[in-house]
Amino acid sequence: MSQLRILVTGASGLLGSNLALQAAARYEVVGLTHQHPLPNAGFETLQADLLAPGAIAGVLDAAKPDWVVHCAALADIDACELRPELARQLNTELPGQLAQETARRNLRLAHISTDAVFDGTKAPYKETDAPNPLSVYAKTKRMAELAVKAAHPHWLIIRPNLFGWSVNGVHSLAEFFYNNLSAGKAVNGFADRLFTPLHVGFLAEIVLELLERGVHGIYHAGSRDSLSKYDFGMMIAQQFGFDEKLVRPADAESAAPRADDLRLNVSRLAQALGRGLPSAAEGVQRLYDEWHNGHRQTLQAMALAPAKG
Ligand SMILES: NC(=O)c1ccc[n+]([C@@H]2O[C@H](COP(=O)([O-])OP(=O)(O)OC[C@H]3O[C@@H](n4cnc5c(N)ncnc54)[C@H](OP(=O)(O)O)[C@@H]3O)[C@@H](O)[C@H]2O)c1
Repeated sequence: MSQLRILVTGASGLLGSNLALQAAARYEVVGLTHQHPLPNAGFETLQADLLAPGAIAGVLDAAKPDWVVHCAALADIDACELRPELARQLNTELPGQLAQETARRNLRLAHISTDAVFDGTKAPYKETDAPNPLSVYAKTKRMAELAVKAAHPHWLIIRPNLFGWSVNGVHSLAEFFYNNLSAGKAVNGFADRLFTPLHVGFLAEIVLELLERGVHGIYHAGSRDSLSKYDFGMMIAQQFGFDEKLVRPADAESAAPRADDLRLNVSRLAQALGRGLPSAAEGVQRLYDEWHNGHRQTLQAMALAPAKG
C-alpha cells in the first residue's frame, strides 16, 4: 500500500511546523505556507494564499492528500481585533469551505480550534459546556466550529492550548519567557490567568493519533493539570536554570477581551486515547530536551535557504 499523504495548512506556524515535521517521519507530508516559505523544510511544501479564489481546490488538487490538518489561521488575538474582516475570512469562512471541499472529496479533516471559545466563568471546561467567546478571534473560531460541523459528516475538532518552539522563535508563551529570561530581562507572569498548556509535540502526536483512528467529534487538548501563567513562567525559569526573581507576579492586562480562566477538562480526550494527558511540567521538560537535542534549531533552519553543495 502506498504511504498516506497529509496536507498540513499553516506549516510555517507553531503547530503546523511541529506537526508536519513529526508526521514526515511516518507519512508523506505536504506543508502549506503563505507569507513565510520553508525552503529547508525536509518535506514537500506548497505556497498559496488560501483566501484567493479557487485556492482551496487548487491546493487539494496539487497536494492530493488523504488527510488534512488545518492549522492555518489568524491566531494573533490583537491582530483579529484590528482586522475583524480578515479574521472572519481566515478563521471562519476558510475552515467552512475547506470542510465542504474535503467532505466532497471524502478526505479526513482535523480542524484546530481554541480554548478561547469560553468566557472563563465556568472552568474547567468540558466539551459539553456552552461556549461564550469574548474576542473577535474567539468569536471567529467558534463560528468555524459550527461551519466545520455543518459541512463535514465526519468532523474532528480539537480545542487546544499549546506551547513550544516555533520557526520564527518568538511565537509562543514559552518562547516569550525563554527569550526574556535567557537575556536576563524581567517579565510579568499573569497570576490571575489559569490555563492547561500542552506541549506542541504532544499535541501533534495526539492529532495524528486521532486521525489514524478515524475519531469523530470534539476534544479538549490540554495538559492534565492546570496552572497560572506566572507559575508557567516560574516552571520555565526553574527548568532552564534562569533567575526565578525575574518572573514577577502581575495582574493580566490586554487590549483584546480575554478570559481569565481557560482551564480545560481533558477527560474525554484521555478516554479516547486510552491514557492520561502529559502534565504541564512534562511539557516544559520536553521543551528543555528539545533545546538540547537540536529540535529548536531544526525548526528555525526550515526557513533558511538549504546549504549548497
Ligand atoms: N498558538 C496558540 O497559543 C494557540 C492556542 C489555541 C489554539 N490555537 C489554534 O491553533 C492553530 C495553529 O495556531 P498557531 O499558533 O500554530 O498559528 P500561527 O503560528 O500564527 O500560524 C498561522 C499559520 O497560518 C498561515 N496562514 C495565515 N494566513 C494564510 C493564508 N491566507 N493562506 C494560507 N495560510 C495562511 C500562516 O502562514 P505564513 O506564516 O506562511 O503566512 C501560518 O503558517 C490555529 O487554529 C489557532 O487558532 C493556537
